[in-house]
Amino acid sequence: MADGGAVHQIGSAPPPAKFFEGLLRASPDGIAVTDAAQTIVLVNEAFCELLFAPWREVVETSALVWMQQLAGDAPQRWAELEREARLKGTCRGVELRITKNGETRYLAVNASRLRTPAEAETGMLSIWRDVTDQIAAEKALLASQTRLWRAERLASVATLAGGIAHEINNPAGSILAAAEFAQLVKDEPEGPQQAETAFKTIIEEAHRCGRIVKSVLALTPGWQSDRAIGDLNNVLRDSCDLLIEHANERGARIEWDLGTDLPAILLSPQEIEQLLSNLVRNSVESGADRIVVITRAHQTVRLTVEDNGPGIPAEIRERIFDPFFTTRRQRGGTGLGLSLVWGIVLDHGGTLHVESASGGGARLVAEFPRAVLPGSATREGA
Ligand SMILES: Nc1ncnc2c1ncn2[C@@H]1O[C@H](COP(=O)(O)OP(=O)(O)O)[C@@H](O)[C@H]1O
Ligand SMILES: [Mg+2]
Repeated sequence: MADGGAVHQIGSAPPPAKFFEGLLRASPDGIAVTDAAQTIVLVNEAFCELLFAPWREVVETSALVWMQQLAGDAPQRWAELEREARLKGTCRGVELRITKNGETRYLAVNASRLRTPAEAETGMLSIWRDVTDQIAAEKALLASQTRLWRAERLASVATLAGGIAHEINNPAGSILAAAEFAQLVKDEPEGPQQAETAFKTIIEEAHRCGRIVKSVLALTPGWQSDRAIGDLNNVLRDSCDLLIEHANERGARIEWDLGTDLPAILLSPQEIEQLLSNLVRNSVESGADRIVVITRAHQTVRLTVEDNGPGIPAEIRERIFDPFFTTRRQRGGTGLGLSLVWGIVLDHGGTLHVESASGGGARLVAEFPRAVLPGSATREGA
């Protein structure tokens, strides 16, 4: 194509040279022809404007020297362009950044090899387009996307911070009340027993604060709580009281269908508790009034939470695990719940996916690998 592509025209008489000169003049893109020694032999006005120079200074000078005078990456890029056009015949879309007198321009250059009629020397035709405005528009778009993304994040962080403040405020209030009570009764005859109860409350509530802080820390990449080999059902049973209360207060009922003989898994009880709590809360918040928690032994240990709410529309299923994705922002959603659940399942070496429940509600399924028990081979052998 570069050396031999045909030119098509109406009529058979070749147009006069003036006609071709007119074409070069009319081109909005810069056009330059260089010879084998990289001397610029022909340019149009548009090209000279792009180089910030009158044509007299351009013609018969070396293209290489020009490139070296222009700050930016022009010399390297020109060299690449030259090499590729020579080797392959054409080279498209090489971008050059040139700076002169404090002004920067971005130029997209296409080039192709030109042979003299004798096929001896190889020159090059290059077409230069100013893409400065286009690049500025792309940068502005990127900047506004980044701003939007930051604003979105800030809003979510604010919601999250509000949530944490609320969660910490309750136990902090209980601690204060219990401590004041203990102080008040300490000199009375029944004081020591009463104070003992107050201390218990203080310790429990302080632990609760600690758990909340941990759940926030769990959102930070790289943080891991302690793992031990354990029984998933036991952990679920230990963490169910608060959840049952939470669901009941909102008119929902939780059913437990915990499979027997579940193999052990390597787990962090706190994380499993967080996982279940987030899944159940999501079901309650979706408006479901029946939630079923199921565990089963398969190749893996499977935990399913399903509800009879409205379900999760197919078009958002891809995004529900993204951090900060929520359809409930107005109602205090942070969009962190499922991303936390995802992180926890992944950290446990498992997988998580979403399905539709038989009645159209949502069903979230986590699969955990069976633990490899130390010494299990010995026991079998014994
Ligand atoms: N059980 C469910 N039923 C319907 N939609 C759900 C359910 N669980 C999650 N979702 C959808 O997934 C989104 C993300 O959930 P999540 O990450 O927990 O954030 P949040 O609960 O703060 O909105 C929710 O906003 C909701 O649209
Ligand atoms: Mg949630």
